[in-house]
Amino acid sequence: MSSGAHRDSPTEVLRAFDAHADAAAIAHAAELLCAGQLVAFPTETVYGLGADATNAAAVAGIFSAKERPLSDPLIVHLAHVADVRAVAGEIPSVVEPLAARFWPGPLTLVLPRSAYIPPIVAAGGRTVGVRLPAHPIARALIAAAGVPIAAPSANRFTHTSPTTAAHVLADLDGRIACVLDAGPCAVGVESTVVDLTSSPPRLLRPGGVSAEALRDLLPDLTLPVSAEPTTAEPPGAPQRAPGQMERHYAPRARLLVFDGVGEAVVRAIAAEVRARAAQGQRVGALVADEEAAALAGLGAQVVALGPAGDLAAIARGLYAALRELDAVPVDTIIAHTFGEAGLGLALRDRLRRAAGGVLTPPPDV
Ligand code: TXA
Ligand code: MG
Repeated sequence: MSSGAHRDSPTEVLRAFDAHADAAAIAHAAELLCAGQLVAFPTETVYGLGADATNAAAVAGIFSAKERPLSDPLIVHLAHVADVRAVAGEIPSVVEPLAARFWPGPLTLVLPRSAYIPPIVAAGGRTVGVRLPAHPIARALIAAAGVPIAAPSANRFTHTSPTTAAHVLADLDGRIACVLDAGPCAVGVESTVVDLTSSPPRLLRPGGVSAEALRDLLPDLTLPVSAEPTTAEPPGAPQRAPGQMERHYAPRARLLVFDGVGEAVVRAIAAEVRARAAQGQRVGALVADEEAAALAGLGAQVVALGPAGDLAAIARGLYAALRELDAVPVDTIIAHTFGEAGLGLALRDRLRRAAGGVLTPPPDV
């Protein structure tokens, strides 16, 4: 069988909460992958849409199922660090300490691509993004398949990334052979992508591993313009890495994101909620637990993401909250960023993209 895209048969949903108890489901999913089919699987960040990375036809199926342009390269997922040697050409010496500290985990390293990985995986380029996911089901699946697994997030192109199997089905049911359901993802935002083929190394996408932690081993790591503390970005000017387009991770509703934290920001959100509700709009708000009370009774659907000081909880709940508010539905979602430290940088990046690339300056205090 060739690729699994645009199938007519329904997608198989298999529970896989435990790598040992659910070994039969994992073995079945691995057989599908080896036969060139598409399988969505849990990782610690978001659900991925996997195909055998060495099978160009299977990888083509990923792009058609997601309606993703071929110009956006895929990450290759491995079960063992030793397998990096097969997928990457030259391996910079810093890979070893990076792998020892951050793998398995939410870090993708862009390395020179070996001939074992077909060009379609890398959008025709000479590099390849590589990651060892930490999720036990992902690791068991990749090991059982015995091949590297190319996997983007298992959503339609530009949609919000999936953090549950139900999210995957909402976007891809009938288009892929199978989804392994292991419940919600623990991190909730995608991996950090670091380009090690440039000098100095570049952070292409903030994610589950913080820039601060990376700088312990990569002291000269550069951040993308959009991740610098300034909001201003000249329209159309900066050259971005492939796939770093602005409308991404986006809900259907319009998103308004204040770039700041604190009481003045919450008051500004409340004022926006009131103004829009008065115009007859259906409004949603995404805030920290402590901030929800200030928005009660204003007519908005308020989702409390987690305690203000717990960015891990906020990241874990962000994508599900965007999908939840879309399902209400609401016309506008109002939110704010959570600083730039640690996971705050990834949250700010995803909120900005979900808002079409624009952050709203915080109110003057
Ligand atoms: O956490 C994650 O990274 C998830 C899970 C499934 O592993 N995957 C994921 O894949 O988010 P995707 O395709 O949705 O995002 C991959 C990002 C894109 O922005 C892509 O452009 C970038 O990584 N990327 C992949 N390979 C690259 C390469 N060779 N050079 C530059 N950027 C690359
Ligand atoms: Mg994605």
